[in-house]
Amino acid sequence: MELKIANFKLNNPIITASGTFGYADEFEDFCDVSKIGAIVTKGMTLEPRPGNSGDRIFETDCGMINRIGLENIGIESFLENKLPILKKKNINFILNVAGSCFEDYFKMAEIANDNNIEAIELNVSCPNVKEGCLEFGVDKNALYELVLGVRKNYKGCLIVKLTPNVTRIEDLAIAVKDAGADAISAINTLKGLGIKLDFINGKFYKKEVQGGLSGKCIKPVALAQVKRIRQVCDLPIIAMGGISTLYDIFEFISAGADFFQIGTQNFTEPNCAVNLVCELEEFICKNGFKDFIELKTAIKEIK
Ligand SMILES: Cc1cc2nc3c(=O)[nH]c(=O)nc-3n(C[C@H](O)[C@H](O)[C@H](O)COP(=O)(O)O)c2cc1C
Repeated sequence: MELKIANFKLNNPIITASGTFGYADEFEDFCDVSKIGAIVTKGMTLEPRPGNSGDRIFETDCGMINRIGLENIGIESFLENKLPILKKKNINFILNVAGSCFEDYFKMAEIANDNNIEAIELNVSCPNVKEGCLEFGVDKNALYELVLGVRKNYKGCLIVKLTPNVTRIEDLAIAVKDAGADAISAINTLKGLGIKLDFINGKFYKKEVQGGLSGKCIKPVALAQVKRIRQVCDLPIIAMGGISTLYDIFEFISAGADFFQIGTQNFTEPNCAVNLVCELEEFICKNGFKDFIELKTAIKEIK
């Protein structure tokens, strides 16, 4: 199942999603992480961040809402403490990059380049603090400028992760391609609100969490967004949003995706990605497909 995104090699198309798989070492007790095509690190910033205080997770019927707030160890600590482990254990990884202004992203790109990090994924669902806190990923001009600047500083595989919280995701996909990205990831979380009310001893109690909705409940939205991107853009698409089974993967192939990230499912099934690698391999062998590409072509041809 050997595949490539630009010059970045993967043994298979299964990837774990940013923020749901730590820095990989946390999952070693559950599965053989090196079998996964690649892992995406937690969103990384120039400086360490503590994340949000208060409730950060809210369970919904078929998913979850999170407001983690980009808690991460910072790039310096990543290079010193996590990168050597990933290299030693032969774990293929993509660095997820976040920032508060254009310069943060440009600097992170330069650092990734200088440290020979082979692939980065830009999380563009972050507020541009210097310019009214509008997210980079909702304005096609800002997004173009951001990706262009990163591209100048970074020679490796450049992936841009789009937000679904826009009216026309097609326009953002075109901007990303025009600016020189190698692939698109879709989708990040949807904006959601969880409210839980309890009535105890004659009094109401409320828990309220506003944040990003993910998991099985967002799969139809993700499928629609992937299809819309595919209609206007020929870059490889790395799909995510509620993927947990082999048939979820097949559905995303049918919508136009090439690679697949497993996110929220990792919390309840930490070996999900490794299981899917095995199931996909088995499906290919048992059913007489030459390789993953042939399976993908067969699914895409279904009318
Ligand atoms: C707890 C949590 C933390 C996340 N942190 C990040 C992050 O740091 N950077 C990022 O780009 N996406 C982050 N995401 C979004 C996921 O990578 C993914 O895009 C989204 O959850 C949809 O996929 P899923 O439904 O399979 O979880 C996070 C999601 C969750 C649930």
